[in-house]
Amino acid sequence: MRTIAPDLWWIFLAAAGAVTILVVAFVIATLAQQKRHVAAVRSFSDRLLAAHEEERALVARELHDDVLQRVAVLVGELDDKDRTPPDSREAYARWVSEFREEVTDLADDVRHIAKRMHPAVLDHLGLEAALEVMAEEMQRVDGVRVEMNIDLPRKSTSLAKELTTSLYRIAQEALRNVAQHAQVDHAVLSMSEREGGIELIIEDRGEGLPEGWEDTVQGLGMTSMKERMRLINGRLTVTPSDQGTRVEAWVPLRRAP
Ligand SMILES: Nc1ncnc2c1ncn2[C@@H]1O[C@H](COP(=O)(O)OP(=O)(O)OP(=O)(O)O)[C@@H](O)[C@H]1O
Ligand SMILES: [Mg+2]
Repeated sequence: MRTIAPDLWWIFLAAAGAVTILVVAFVIATLAQQKRHVAAVRSFSDRLLAAHEEERALVARELHDDVLQRVAVLVGELDDKDRTPPDSREAYARWVSEFREEVTDLADDVRHIAKRMHPAVLDHLGLEAALEVMAEEMQRVDGVRVEMNIDLPRKSTSLAKELTTSLYRIAQEALRNVAQHAQVDHAVLSMSEREGGIELIIEDRGEGLPEGWEDTVQGLGMTSMKERMRLINGRLTVTPSDQGTRVEAWVPLRRAP
């Protein structure tokens, strides 16, 4: 039997020790990275949950503090008129007209709250119509004109609901970002069928993303868009474009098996 020279044993032991140290260090680093990843995902989910809770709280507040109070005032007015009816036909007609106006205003506000929760037009008329309405509102409220280039060979009402809702929410957040951060009065929204899916692009020629935005931004918008796309096996890329920002979303028409 051949024996190993004593100095070779030392080399063997040193090598085995080094390999063990490397393996242990690798395992520790992997575990630490996994822990950081889990913490990041959890912190994002917490923030998303908090944002949804905040939205619900806002709607509850609007319903309670505004809508309910106004309904109470209207009921009070009815009771008042019941006790002391107007003394002439003209006074009565004037009161009815004012009352109708108040009820119409209230209905408008309730419609606005409902639309914010979920745009009914998306279900009934499809994605193109819902995006048109969004663009009109954007022009009216924020003064940003949205140029629409939509070219879909199929009717969007035939698309899966989760797909149209996701694309609608992406357009909403990307356009809100244009209005809030880009300092421009014009954006372009394009949508077409490509590579077995639907591609949505929102582009502006404004301020552009701040340096190092990917590592430093605290906003929920970008993360929420990415998370939405991840959930339906889509892709989202946000890139600085020539003098501005380009948000590109792609969703597959068929679900992954
Ligand atoms: N179109 C854009 N033009 C210029 N900067 C942008 C644009 N879109 C996003 N940004 C920059 O990227 C940051 C992150 O956007 P994100 O939507 O995640 O957050 P936010 O808009 O600041 O906040 P939130 O969406 O939570 O209200 C913004 O704060 C802004 O600095
Ligand atoms: Mg945003």
